Amino acid sequence: MIQKVPFCKVLCDGNELKYITEVIESGWLTTASKTKKFEDQFAEYVGAEYACAVNSCTAALHLGLDALGVKPGDKVFVPSLTFTASAEVIRYLGADPIFLDVDYDTKVITPEILEKAIEKHPDVACLILVHYGGHAAELINDANHGILDICKQNNIKILEDAAHAFPAKLGDRFIGSFGDVTCFSFYANKTITSGEGGMLTTNNEEIFKRVKTMRLHGINRDVWDRFTSDKPSWEYDVVAPGFKYNMPDVTAAIGLAQLERAEVFRKSREEVATYYLEHLKDVKELDLTVSKVPYKDHAWHLFTVVLRDQSKVTRNRFIELLSEKGVGTSVHYKPLHRMTYYKNKYGDRSADLINTEKIWQGTVSLPIFPFMKEEEMKYVCDTIKSILSE
Ligand SMILES: Cc1ncc(COP(=O)(O)O)c(C=O)c1O
Repeated sequence: MIQKVPFCKVLCDGNELKYITEVIESGWLTTASKTKKFEDQFAEYVGAEYACAVNSCTAALHLGLDALGVKPGDKVFVPSLTFTASAEVIRYLGADPIFLDVDYDTKVITPEILEKAIEKHPDVACLILVHYGGHAAELINDANHGILDICKQNNIKILEDAAHAFPAKLGDRFIGSFGDVTCFSFYANKTITSGEGGMLTTNNEEIFKRVKTMRLHGINRDVWDRFTSDKPSWEYDVVAPGFKYNMPDVTAAIGLAQLERAEVFRKSREEVATYYLEHLKDVKELDLTVSKVPYKDHAWHLFTVVLRDQSKVTRNRFIELLSEKGVGTSVHYKPLHRMTYYKNKYGDRSADLINTEKIWQGTVSLPIFPFMKEEEMKYVCDTIKSILSE
């Protein structure tokens, strides 16, 4: 069967080629003025003091945890319902993940879940908060008892994994402007892409300086500075054993062009989500994703449904049948506590992760991408209904 509706589509029909050509003509292919411009414009977009472009969100998460001072033996909260990158960086630093459950409807950690986890693990050093699917977790609330408040009261550092959450808002502020460290992904299937790439935002100057240094081998000057400042270019110092995580200018060129279209893309994804919410609401076998933020503030990276227990079709068979009818889907995620490495190292944690287990048994991510045609959305909904009514 030819695929009628793919799971995702990449759109590069803005200024991508123009900006790439400018980079090639400039003769500067590594990190230089385009990356600087991308950082400046991204920081301005989300309302952060500083932004540091890197070659993946995984790199940003690693640099962020390092800058927050996470060290061997520390315990770090992380949801189990996430991509492996969110937790592997904890292991890079010799710390140990403690997997948290998420809210069944929104699939993010809530203040209540966090508070219960702190009672059980009062010695935890850090929380990695994933804004799953583009839905902002409750960092702040009217009761001044949001996740940021709870972390502050309990001396827990917080690192936001916003790989799915650009552009996403909480109240009148963008994700990326709240906590000490927020990490974004520009991987090919993300809401804006540069092929591969990531961005770390912060309002903390010390964190920014550490991240910038560790991004490039622990050298106290970046390449652009070495070739634009008055100091001799050969002269630099190594202040720590850093990494090679910088973003090249060709990548930044694509990112800049995508950034110009970020809200157009987001709005278009919102239209797809709104269509699904309306046209699938009466399908009794499905629990649809719930947004507790206004739809306009959601990045809508994913649109997930959970097949209920009583459905006659299993999740895996449902995916097969959709695929046979030409509908691309995915699963986000097989939870990390079920992965061999974490199971072998930390034992079976499933009893603590009731919602995560329930989501995992039934979850399917439906096609969502900018400029999806109404006939494509209708085809997805009609196909789902016909499979579930057989
Ligand atoms: C929640 C989450 N965090 C981190 C990442 C890692 O992003 P990157 O591929 O840019 O390293 C991903 C990638 O899919 C993700 O979904």
